Amino acid sequence: MKRRDTLVRYTAPERINHWVTAFCFLLVAVSGLGFFFPSFNWLMYILGTPQLARILHPFIGVAMFASFIIMFFHYWRHNLPNREDIVWAKNIRKIVTNKDVGDIGRYNLGQKFIFWSAILLLALLLISGIIIWRPWFAPAFSIPVVRFGLMLHSFAGVGLIIIIMIHIYAALWVKGSVTAMVEGWVTRPWAKKHHPRWYRETQEKAQKPTD
Ligand code: HEM
Repeated sequence: MKRRDTLVRYTAPERINHWVTAFCFLLVAVSGLGFFFPSFNWLMYILGTPQLARILHPFIGVAMFASFIIMFFHYWRHNLPNREDIVWAKNIRKIVTNKDVGDIGRYNLGQKFIFWSAILLLALLLISGIIIWRPWFAPAFSIPVVRFGLMLHSFAGVGLIIIIMIHIYAALWVKGSVTAMVEGWVTRPWAKKHHPRWYRETQEKAQKPTD
């Protein structure tokens, strides 16, 4: 692919940030499912042994949160809702048949929904995770609070797994998206088709004379 036919969508530090978050997510999601369902106990071996999984799971969870926060500050502005999102939502039938609708910016409403759901669920996981973290923090809370924390942690964990499954499905479904997060670039037709406003904005920026 010639350089002039492509646009940069993610820089190398952004991609590293994303994949560190994704790798941490994989480890905590798999070990978490291992703790939760007796028939899935064998999944704890993803972190070595069940004992090690019990020790490492919360630390990796905190690392995932910290890594996502960097992404959050990078992308939150692009995920703010706008008028075009209403057009997108009204035409959801067309969207699911792979037609693009509206003057979409860097992200569409579906992506924005994933983004805000992820930060909300990650915040809930962090707060409830601290409440139930033995032996460090849990003794500071009463038993009913720890039990409530456990319930919240389980629901938020399952919620995040579902959200990320949708995210992965959408990434594979929209051809050309995975290249954006693996190699950093997208083609011009991809940008024009899926994110026309973002395409125009990047063109305008590129044409601005540098001081
Ligand atoms: C194997 C798992 C994953 C795959 C294959 C994947 C794939 C992708 C791809 C292809 C994009 C670029 C989409 C675009 O620019 O249009 C993207 C963006 C993004 N991903 Fe992932 N991802 C994965 C896991 C995760 C996880 C675990 C998180 C967070 C907990 C996450 C959060 C994000 C965010 C915040 C963006 C930027 C989009 C936005 O702000 O709306 N991803 N991902």
